[in-house]
Amino acid sequence: MSEQVFSKRILITGGAGFIGSHVVKQFVKKYPNYLILNLDKLTYAGNLGNLHDVEDAENYKFIKADIVNSEEINAIFQNEKITDVIHLAAESHVDRSITNPTEFVMTNVLGTINLLLAAKQFWPKNQGNRFYHVSTDEVYGSLGDTGHFVETTAYDPRSPYSASKASSDHFVRAFSHTYHLETVISNCSNNYGPYQFPEKLIPLMINNIIHNKALPVYGAGLNVRDWLWVGDHVNAIDLIFHKGKNGETYNIGGDCEMKNIDLVHLLCNILDRKLNREQGSSAKLIHYVTDRPGHDMRYAIDASKIKADLSWSPSYRVEQGMEATVDWYLENENWLKNVTSGEYQSYYDKHYLQK
Ligand code: NAD
Ligand code: DAU
Repeated sequence: MSEQVFSKRILITGGAGFIGSHVVKQFVKKYPNYLILNLDKLTYAGNLGNLHDVEDAENYKFIKADIVNSEEINAIFQNEKITDVIHLAAESHVDRSITNPTEFVMTNVLGTINLLLAAKQFWPKNQGNRFYHVSTDEVYGSLGDTGHFVETTAYDPRSPYSASKASSDHFVRAFSHTYHLETVISNCSNNYGPYQFPEKLIPLMINNIIHNKALPVYGAGLNVRDWLWVGDHVNAIDLIFHKGKNGETYNIGGDCEMKNIDLVHLLCNILDRKLNREQGSSAKLIHYVTDRPGHDMRYAIDASKIKADLSWSPSYRVEQGMEATVDWYLENENWLKNVTSGEYQSYYDKHYLQK
């Protein structure tokens, strides 16, 4: 039987993580002419169980590898004839970056440079190969009560995580400028939805409410985040990958700013109703704990550019998105149990229960 010829052979890094697994699934299902190669190291945050509905697809392949290992990356580019990259692999949790910044430099900075160098080496002529770097709004720093981040906002990263992502963004732009590598970057606000690892605010709170554990709210709970349904982020990535302009940056946000404490109350109310508990009972679990060091006060994205240029807009309102997210976690308690066993459990005990 002759081997299928694919129009693109896209390396998606971090495809076993939260956002990456949604990107992989959308691309495998929507683009049967593309071969999707999911490269992931399978750290504590990576879980192949996130991908069960595509694992047998003919246009899907998983490769366990570490982006910090340049020899491995070069061999994959050569052997798999990679035509494009969508780069999501990263250490993604701000609290972990505060306790172990070096790990973030290794994966987020050095790992990105290794991928850029491989792209430069194996795509010597400009033949429409595209390097798409997925980044964060945290590179812009922190806002006061007013204003929004736009694509030209000066970088002002303030945590080891955001400093490492800012550095990787700069390297991507440097490779575009110096070596004419075709690149696009997007900077996105806080995502939520199914398969998010329960160290991040929303799944952590859902998991703890289900199990009647304390809900650790940092500081006074007044910090503001702009929440985006993960499926809306994936649609934006799909559009930018296919239609974004070479060398451009696009901000992506949910038009949905909320104070942390209001969000936690919303989750408590939804779960009281779904678990047939007395209204107000889950909120009694709220526990104000020592603030995150250097905690950014407010993020807010102005997504006018991607709306105008690529006709993208967020589809989920927060009430609808939170209901859907809570339903998913209630229906997938085994997934939760699975990912919170072992290494994560000891991290959780150390970082949250002792505060
Ligand atoms: P995640 O932590 O859920 O997943 C990261 C994935 O990368 C995991 O599967 C992990 O195994 C893999 N990985 C880590 N180190 C690796 C290495 N050295 N080599 C290969 N694979 C490695 O992260 P996420 O929340 O899905 O975020 C994905 C990307 O999107 C990140 O680049 C992050 O900075 C960015 N981002 C996330 C958000 C958000 O709200 N979660 C918002 C904006 C941007
Ligand atoms: O803005 C995009 C970024 O959003 C992404 O680049 C990061 O990868 C992602 O982790 C996220 O960063 P945050 O630090 O905003 O997300 P986190 O879920 O850790 O925290 C959200 C807010 O909730 C933040 O103000 C800190 C607060 N918080 C968090 C946790 C885990 C608490 O009050 N209690 C908690 O237990």
